Amino acid sequence: MCGIVGYVGEQNSAPILIDGLKRLEYRGYDSAGIGIICDGKIELVKEKGKVSVLEEKINGNDINGTTGIGHTRWATHGVPNQINAHPHFSSDNELMLVHNGIIENYKELKEFLLRKNYSFKSDTDTEVLVNLIHYFYSENLSLFEATRQALLKVNGTYGIAVLSRNNKERIVIAKNGSPLVIGLGKGENFIASDVNALISHTKNVIYLEDGEIGEITKDSYYIKSLNNDSIEKEVNKIEMDLDEITKSGYQHFMLKEIMDQPNSLNDTIRGRTILEEGISKLGGLQGFEERILQSKRIIISACGTSWHAALVGEYLLEKCTGIPVEVEYASEFRYRNPIISSEDTIIFISQSGETADTLAALKEAKRKGALVLGIVNVVGSSIARASDAGVYIHAGPEIGVASTKAFTSQIAVLILIALLLGRRKNLSIVDGKEIIQSLNSISDLVQEVLEQNSVIEKIAEKFVNAKNFLYLGRGIHFPVALEGALKLKEISYIHAEGYPAAEMKHGPIALIDENMPTVFIAPKDAIYEKVISNIEEVKARNGEVIAIIDKDDKYIENLVDHVIRIPRTNELLMPILTVIPLQLLAYHIAVKKGLNVDQPRNLAKSVTVE
Ligand code: F6R
Repeated sequence: MCGIVGYVGEQNSAPILIDGLKRLEYRGYDSAGIGIICDGKIELVKEKGKVSVLEEKINGNDINGTTGIGHTRWATHGVPNQINAHPHFSSDNELMLVHNGIIENYKELKEFLLRKNYSFKSDTDTEVLVNLIHYFYSENLSLFEATRQALLKVNGTYGIAVLSRNNKERIVIAKNGSPLVIGLGKGENFIASDVNALISHTKNVIYLEDGEIGEITKDSYYIKSLNNDSIEKEVNKIEMDLDEITKSGYQHFMLKEIMDQPNSLNDTIRGRTILEEGISKLGGLQGFEERILQSKRIIISACGTSWHAALVGEYLLEKCTGIPVEVEYASEFRYRNPIISSEDTIIFISQSGETADTLAALKEAKRKGALVLGIVNVVGSSIARASDAGVYIHAGPEIGVASTKAFTSQIAVLILIALLLGRRKNLSIVDGKEIIQSLNSISDLVQEVLEQNSVIEKIAEKFVNAKNFLYLGRGIHFPVALEGALKLKEISYIHAEGYPAAEMKHGPIALIDENMPTVFIAPKDAIYEKVISNIEEVKARNGEVIAIIDKDDKYIENLVDHVIRIPRTNELLMPILTVIPLQLLAYHIAVKKGLNVDQPRNLAKSVTVE
């Protein structure tokens, strides 16, 4: 949520900052701005709206300087307008700050600063922080020391970068709860809130940890704790290529990512199964298997789409291991003082690895002594690093704000975990082998589903003006129904609800009429007959039905208005196939409505505020 970039080197920084902001725009796009040190002052350009608006404005200006910072914002304090956009100056324009996160005690700090004759132009907590740093800076402290002193007074979360007009080649940075990474170049250094902004410049990066503060110049850096102790940091190599974060000819990242699922699933599964033994091998869990198996219960916690994957995981893990599983919204978890002990294993699922609610829940679970595992996409992210052990989903960068390929890869990892644990519990070698064989052919089957794209696009045409949608599924497909509804809400702004199909008669059926389209997830499984009854109930009330059905299903075809056919695989893997038509349906409806599917209103890719 919000993106930060910074550059110190020998090149003109404006194009580098703009390029970085474009790569981070998925984190927030309410407003954007840059600040560059030029001739003893800091030039500021910021605008409401997307980075392209900022870029146009900059093109008309002659801003030339080799040290600068930039920001793309997702509004928390203060409406998204030009004044509230970052960077923010101190009252006298001497210092400049970009900030991700929330300063919780900003009101009392602001009162303190008002008493010291500081004035404020914006409603943001960020402007309070930059003036607080200035307050210490004006006492003749260095920029680093002034920032450190100010942060000691702050409660809240932050990833920050600070400039001073008198320190031409220096950026001070600090992190607490919002990601920040340094990119090391030759004669130039970079900072960013995630590595996407860095990979066109360098693959050598240093991840800051919470409570760390540092300074970069063009050929040096140092990092300390807030208590002023020096810290030696490891330099990591980014294993990602630039074409992974470009659209590669697709109209939208979301479509690219949907279409990428045969590859991303292969990357998730590759090298992680042993067919002869019907078992998986997950290096990230090595040495932890026994402790997990001894757990009295497994809790899976996450937000949004990852929470839907968790619900699928509940089904998979209970079925294969016999260990009771509960699923919790990470955002609710720590606020109800959960009863957790060292006998629990808690799995946190997060694509970004930075979701503040999930990270906070993880810290609470750790504090209470549980074994904490992470299922994460972004390598080196906060949740990955804070977990005791875990499994990367290796889905590759997901840039479209609506999560798609991460969901299917999260399910694939949950299947691998279910296999690993299940084979030591209830799961027979025959069943284990069958699951692995199905995993090995899943990407071909996903490809087959993707070939329905034009069928789905045609169906989408009919629903561009729909105001509401109902998604119904049973068993392992109930979370898929929730996920289908979420995708539609997020990118097409059509109200949609997901329900277990059998719950319809307990309330939602009152909504059914010819204006309420219903999507049924209805593959031939143990409850197929029951789902047919639910479909009949909708049809009897003039409801229009779209059904996701097995490719050889002739019965439902004659019952409903539209069908999308999918192949069959092992029951545990079916959600991977049934969700894809729902991703495509939401995508095409949103595109036909002329909406920006990659950057839906009010949303941001990684939600780093609680
Ligand atoms: C939905 C979506 C969000 C995220 C949620 C959790 O398309 O993207 O609901 O799933 O914000 O994000 P992660 O998985 O990064 O923790």
